[in-house]
Amino acid sequence: MAPTDPCWLFGYGSLIFRPAIPFVERRPARVRGWTRRFWQWSTDHRGEPWRPGRVVTLAPTPDDICWGMAYRLDEAAETILADLDIRERGGYIRMEVELELDVSVGKAPDASAAAPQTVLGLTYQAWPGNRNYAGPAPLAEIAAQVAEATGPSGTNADYVRDLHTALEALGAQDTHVAALAARLPG
Ligand code: SIN
Repeated sequence: MAPTDPCWLFGYGSLIFRPAIPFVERRPARVRGWTRRFWQWSTDHRGEPWRPGRVVTLAPTPDDICWGMAYRLDEAAETILADLDIRERGGYIRMEVELELDVSVGKAPDASAAAPQTVLGLTYQAWPGNRNYAGPAPLAEIAAQVAEATGPSGTNADYVRDLHTALEALGAQDTHVAALAARLPG
């Protein structure tokens, strides 16, 4: 998927709390019809092949909303995305999404409010069937896997906690992330 002009990138996982990319501006954003889920194995960042961690992907859910951060990239977008393709190579591919910018974070869409600015953007999506797809599991099982896993980018538990903290700072509600963070030791 080629970058749009201007190029907006939507982050909903580590790209919220550790973008590590140059950007022109960033704005809280939401995508409709998607839910954040810890349904992707990480064997290269937050786990290892013999003890994978769990990281987030987007599950299609007609009535849900996923909050994240939108980054507007400069004219070097293609190079930045090429670098991100390497960082996200554990099963993610680029997907085009409609982003709603500068909305009232944490609030449900309000028909009486002014229409949010909508832009086309890119996000990294790990579809079911990719080689690292983990899929759903009971929360206790996910928490046990997260608590055990660590990889070159740090512990899997820190990934969950950092994401939870970043979402709270945004004012975004995510019960799946919050419930998992609450189950982690320490
Ligand atoms: C993202 O952050 O948007 C993609 C998933 C991840 O790298 O955690």
